[in-house]
Amino acid sequence: MTTIVTGGAGFIGSHLVDRLLDDGREVVVVDDFDAYYPRAVKEANLAAALARPGCRLVELDVRDAAGVGALVRETRPEAIVHLAARAGVRPSIAAPALYTEVNVLGTVNWLEAAARLDPLPRFVYASSSSVYGDRDEGPFRESDPVDRPVSPYAASKRACELMAHAFHHLHGLPITGLRFFTAYGPRNRPDLAVSLFADRIERGEPVVMFGDGGTRRDYTYVGDIVDGVARAIDRCEGLKLYNLGNSRPVELREMIETLAAALGKPALIRLAPEQPGDVRQTFADVSLAARELGYAPSTSLREGLDRFVAWYRSPRS
Ligand SMILES: NC(=O)c1ccc[n+]([C@@H]2O[C@H](COP(=O)([O-])OP(=O)(O)OC[C@H]3O[C@@H](n4cnc5c(N)ncnc54)[C@H](O)[C@@H]3O)[C@@H](O)[C@H]2O)c1
Repeated sequence: MTTIVTGGAGFIGSHLVDRLLDDGREVVVVDDFDAYYPRAVKEANLAAALARPGCRLVELDVRDAAGVGALVRETRPEAIVHLAARAGVRPSIAAPALYTEVNVLGTVNWLEAAARLDPLPRFVYASSSSVYGDRDEGPFRESDPVDRPVSPYAASKRACELMAHAFHHLHGLPITGLRFFTAYGPRNRPDLAVSLFADRIERGEPVVMFGDGGTRRDYTYVGDIVDGVARAIDRCEGLKLYNLGNSRPVELREMIETLAAALGKPALIRLAPEQPGDVRQTFADVSLAARELGYAPSTSLREGLDRFVAWYRSPRS
């Protein structure tokens, strides 16, 4: 049983690859090691997996429709998990066309290749909590209206959900979309707040806190998210969409304090104005994923940050 994981050298993807190999699946990792953050970081993410039997890497840009089609025809995967994307929210404001190409066109290329396969593979893809836009009320439910994205990144993820609907409708492709909520943990993306803040706290430099520290994020441990993805692959049928969050939003100020405690160093704070494209809160209702997937995130913020710190301080090649 071969599973293709796009973006498999990234933060969430590399954890998923490890998990699928543990489960006895053959994995084809697709990644182009794009320059958003250093290739060496992604190679380190994937090094252990590539040393295991059943795992191979194909360097391919998801925008290359012919390359994607050929790989899917040659591999005949049982499942495709499409995680490759431009993932930063703020940088999407400066590069909306790039985000549209990689995220939307890239997703369409995989949907199209999958829809041409007989038998049809299962198709699981990453969406994002950002599709819910800037809202005060919560928790966010999958049935809520999602037509007010506040960044090109969020709009690109919503566009993927709409494309998934069209491909399921036209071809009967079984598709599950997963709205991830602020993943964190070992192999954390270097541009994410937890990584940036850890660097500054370690160096004794002030953490730049945008807004008043009252913005809230539903930080979700990467191992919990990956467990949800594995469950979604096993149960992929029809057209589904699930929140994969923690359902316990934490204020930015509290996250910084918890991270500082995990690092065992004080956090100095410098205030800066709120950033365009940022939302006030993310807050997942995970009852649908709990009911239909058996999803049950169990890692507390402190536990998850302790594991992040253990990885952060470990020697990395
Ligand atoms: N990390 C989060 O908190 C979070 C939250 C919501 C949604 N997501 C989504 O989850 C997925 C994984 O995110 P992540 O945090 O692991 O990001 P990541 O940047 O670590 O991983 C993405 C991977 O995709 C690859 N990639 C980028 N452009 C590519 C292209 N054109 N062709 C082939 N590969 C390409 C990158 O090299 C990278 O390895 C993304 O779709 C992201 O939008 C992440």
